[in-house]
Amino acid sequence: MGKIAILTSGGDAPGMNAVIRAVVRTAIYKGVEVYGVKNGYEGLIDGNLIEMNESSVADIIHRGGTILGTSRSERFMTEEGQLKAINILEIFGIDKLIVAGGDGSMKGAMALSKHGIDVMGIPLTIDNDMGYTDYTIGFFTAITTVMDAISHIRDTTESHGRANVVEVMGRNCGDIALYAGIASGAENILVPEREFDLDEIAKKALVGKNRGKRHHIIIAAEGAGNSFEIAEKFEELTGIDTKVTILGYIQRGGSPNVSDRIMASAMGSKAVEFICDNEGSHAIGIKDGTVEVFDLEEALNTKKEFKDDLKHILEVTSI
Ligand code: F6P
Repeated sequence: MGKIAILTSGGDAPGMNAVIRAVVRTAIYKGVEVYGVKNGYEGLIDGNLIEMNESSVADIIHRGGTILGTSRSERFMTEEGQLKAINILEIFGIDKLIVAGGDGSMKGAMALSKHGIDVMGIPLTIDNDMGYTDYTIGFFTAITTVMDAISHIRDTTESHGRANVVEVMGRNCGDIALYAGIASGAENILVPEREFDLDEIAKKALVGKNRGKRHHIIIAAEGAGNSFEIAEKFEELTGIDTKVTILGYIQRGGSPNVSDRIMASAMGSKAVEFICDNEGSHAIGIKDGTVEVFDLEEALNTKKEFKDDLKHILEVTSI
């Protein structure tokens, strides 16, 4: 095989650099020329590609963000943009493209695939919202960041005898709230996948308060509703002074943790090994602890299941 290229796309996530490093170094090991595309699909349309070598990816495994840059490209959503991108791949003589990003980025990869380009997707998003893989790279670092932030919030909430509604990211997926909720001992989580009853939540808070409890943490996934309205209603129902903390973009940055670095290295490396020997478009993922390759279209059509068993564990343990 001749040349491959890698781009990072959509919202950045811790582990993007570790993926770029693994892809570039494995390509060199396989004797394949490798290009980095700057700023995701935007750079592909504009022909903003650079040849990568061993040194281009030195000293980045531990860094958050992406050295290639990323974007949410409106232009690439059009047929015109996609054809321009394909033309660029032809000009550079690139046979296969690796797309590291979330759901939207992989849908973009699928569009290229329909035009006959072989693409390999690597799941990289803090949201963990892709059904075909157990975990996406970036998720574990993001939930560790949320857990650490909640430890701080819990201290001040406890001191004042207050409640705090902590809003986390995740788009339409409640996994950040769910996993960080268990790890933080949060009293409640609100997720877009399940309805919630504020009367029940208020009752739980009052029972806890009557027992001597001085804090109540509600983690609200951004897709679950307006956190300020939820806090206002909760305060009205309980009489407990209730604050709101929007964690925002701190969840996207920072040095990837050990799981994300290992997943990034394993998936990035396997992606290159696989495309060197196989045709067609695929997505790499992790199933039951093993890195596996899936058909791209099937991967994108796999529905993400919400883990009610984990929600049950949170409800049983956080009283
Ligand atoms: O997909 C990652 C994510 O951080 C979501 O959790 C969030 O809804 C969205 O991206 C925010 O996107 P942007 O960076 O465009 O504001």
